[in-house]
Amino acid sequence: MKGKVDVLVGALWGDEGKGKVVDTMGADVDIFVRYQGGANAGHTVTVDGQKIVFNLLPSGMLYPGKLCVLGNGVVVDPEEFLKEVDELHRMRMDRARLAISSNAHVVMPYHKILDCAQEAFRGKGGMIGTTGRGIGPCYADKCARSGVRMEDLLDEVRLRDAVSAVLEEKNLVLTKLYGKNPLPFDEVYEPARDWGKALAPYVEDTVALLNDSFEKGKYILLEGAQGTLMDVDHGTYPYVTSSSTVMGGGFTGTGMSPACVDRVIAVTKGYTTRSSWGPMPTEEKGEVGEYLRDKGAEFGNVTGRPRRCGWLDIVALRYSMRLNGCSAAALMKLNVLSGMDEIKVCVAYDLDGVRTERFPGSAHILAKCRPIFESLRGWDEDISNCDTFESLPAEAQNYVNYIEDHAGAPVKLIGVGPDRNQTINRGL
Ligand code: GDP
Ligand code: IMO
Ligand code: MG
Repeated sequence: MKGKVDVLVGALWGDEGKGKVVDTMGADVDIFVRYQGGANAGHTVTVDGQKIVFNLLPSGMLYPGKLCVLGNGVVVDPEEFLKEVDELHRMRMDRARLAISSNAHVVMPYHKILDCAQEAFRGKGGMIGTTGRGIGPCYADKCARSGVRMEDLLDEVRLRDAVSAVLEEKNLVLTKLYGKNPLPFDEVYEPARDWGKALAPYVEDTVALLNDSFEKGKYILLEGAQGTLMDVDHGTYPYVTSSSTVMGGGFTGTGMSPACVDRVIAVTKGYTTRSSWGPMPTEEKGEVGEYLRDKGAEFGNVTGRPRRCGWLDIVALRYSMRLNGCSAAALMKLNVLSGMDEIKVCVAYDLDGVRTERFPGSAHILAKCRPIFESLRGWDEDISNCDTFESLPAEAQNYVNYIEDHAGAPVKLIGVGPDRNQTINRGL
């Protein structure tokens, strides 16, 4: 009996409410899998008023009896992993069982130092504004074939060899290029050996685990981090993260086949935000941006930075729906728009005086695009207690229908507040 696999992706630049959607879908899911990224993510889940932010662990963690997996495509920071597990324990939260891929790469201490040193080296003009969590340098080592994988942590001899091989080069870079102190071998090796002991119970061949589970009929949810426009290939490079955030990353990052996939769900908000540097055509720097930021509490979970806010960018959303082959969308934070007389939607760009509806594959071209808006009527009512589509004000229904028509996929989930229950489910 074959199971079911859904992929959930962030539609734009991240922080769309993916954590909430995963948690909302969670009752039916058997296995939740993170497939890329690391502790740079910040996924919020709110249950009965209690808010929990997962940076590294999957957002299905609050379902005891289920399984949460960090796939081979994730870069695992062992300290962060243990901290998040410990926090749930301290909060006396029952939790799902956890497994980590033996092939997942480990974020080592020098990755974090290099992440910050490289940012400083790029200087003010060239900075990417990374989270400093070692993500880029860890993925760079993975591709350069000088990474440390989870399986290496479990074998003291192999770990010793791996650390001594790589540390010599890292210390040269740290000292000669960035003027930093070298890292003594023991300061890297010993904590890594201890992480191996602490993490050994979690490390598994998750490719076999996931495929076996699929063949036994399990429902698996592949949970993307960041967003489509942060993808290293398809996003606004170089203002992106270092992994494949799009649905394709779900297969390389787990070892599951695309042939298993049932649905691809894109999560978007009723407006756009961006935590990162780089072009954002619909950014509103004045009153509207501030209103959205205040009402939507748009501050980064990881960096604490205020998120840049603006109207929904349908050009970018359409690009994302197409790249990911989405069969459904989740539209979150609709309640944040209550109280606005007018809601604008960017339907096309003006590029050097020519109208285009195509999202450019280059950040340099996107930086020259000016938004062309259409305007819709807003609504005043507080919608945070609405639990059906029909109970929404007519203008809010109209806005959802408009997005559905323009995005090219049905809006199956509508978020009207942060809590698990503040969700209108239209058959997802
Ligand atoms: P993620 O990274 O995509 O998981 O999103 P974040 O957790 O970084 O940011 C989304 C924020 O919006 C969190 O604070 C959520 O609690 C909150 N949120 C999610 N859905 C809704 C919603 O429908 N309405 C409101 N008001 N807040 C929401
Ligand atoms: P979630 O999963 C928004 C941004 C960082 C930075 C850029 C590169 O919560 O949506 P990195 O440390 O990844 O090399 O930083 O990417 N960034 C995010 N922005 N949401 C996220 O995750 C992000 N993860 C990374 O702010 O600009
Ligand atoms: Mg987030």
